[in-house]
Amino acid sequence: MTDANRKMLAGKVVLVTGAGGGIGREIALGMARNGARVVVNDVGASLGGDIMAVNPGQQVVNEIRAAGGEAVHNGDSVSDAKGAERMVAQAVEAFGRIDCVVNNAGILRDRIFHKMSVDDFDAVIKVHLYGAFHTSKAAALHFKEQGSGSLVHMTSASGLVGNFGQANYAAAKLGVTALSKSIALDMQKFNVRSNCICPFAWSRMTSSIPAETPEERARVERLKRMTPDKIAPLSIYLASDAAAGVTGQVFAVRNNEISLMSQPRPLRSVHRSEGWTPESIGEHAIPALRASFYPLDRSADVFCWDPI
Ligand code: NAI
Repeated sequence: MTDANRKMLAGKVVLVTGAGGGIGREIALGMARNGARVVVNDVGASLGGDIMAVNPGQQVVNEIRAAGGEAVHNGDSVSDAKGAERMVAQAVEAFGRIDCVVNNAGILRDRIFHKMSVDDFDAVIKVHLYGAFHTSKAAALHFKEQGSGSLVHMTSASGLVGNFGQANYAAAKLGVTALSKSIALDMQKFNVRSNCICPFAWSRMTSSIPAETPEERARVERLKRMTPDKIAPLSIYLASDAAAGVTGQVFAVRNNEISLMSQPRPLRSVHRSEGWTPESIGEHAIPALRASFYPLDRSADVFCWDPI
């Protein structure tokens, strides 16, 4: 890495949510190494969302400071609108501005659909989808005033493709993806960009993936080779001015592989000049469209090769 690259975020102030561990920690450390001043947010939640630790992000703040960087800790929850406002206010108070928010905080409450409780659904939507809305909204007014800003949201192959037992999480993550695209559209005129990363990395979150069958065990072993630090370079790039014009996109990162993900578009259409009846749909439309149906595949069916 050249010197110019190392200071890619000089002068920038970033908020990274859920940065006490896993992917968020690596992003916060990487951004600080690249010259950003960082608000390290983490509420200290268990994987299921119960509050477990006090100041879990403080260790990350200490590491950034020890390396000569600047960081402050915030322990609010992203699912609380006022908490999100405090995170952004803290960035402005401590460092004078806010340039980027990385919406990374997350929890899991996996359950097969017919057993999923309202509480399981609500808790996951609150952290991922409302969390991304609250922090983005709190930063948006600053972004508009200064005529610049970048949002980076962690989405998931669970939402983009599918997974067992994650209806709450998949709905939240596809919601975050649509939220990102909507912000990109609405705020383009203010030079505000919004992109998603679909990460693959061994962390506390992926350690909950079932490893009962030999197939599942092999998949988990492959996942263990994908480390959270590999998600940081793209996050740093997307936060930087070098990413001007990069907005409304969804990237996937697995180790040294970066993919641009597709976005839904019509695949194939059928027309009937006299219009459709339920019968003619069954006789004509569905047979014509069936060739393009998607199988009920899961993340591992689509990402079925090992990254470098
Ligand atoms: P992790 O469980 O290691 O870290 C998540 C962090 O978020 C924790 O430190 C936790 O305390 C914090 N957090 C939870 N609720 C919070 C709240 N309400 N307010 C503030 N902080 C809160 O998880 P990991 O793997 O690092 O995941 C980071 C993001 O990447 C998540 O959004 C996750 O859904 C997403 N992701 C991760 C994948 C992976 O392979 N690890 C795959 C797909 C998506």
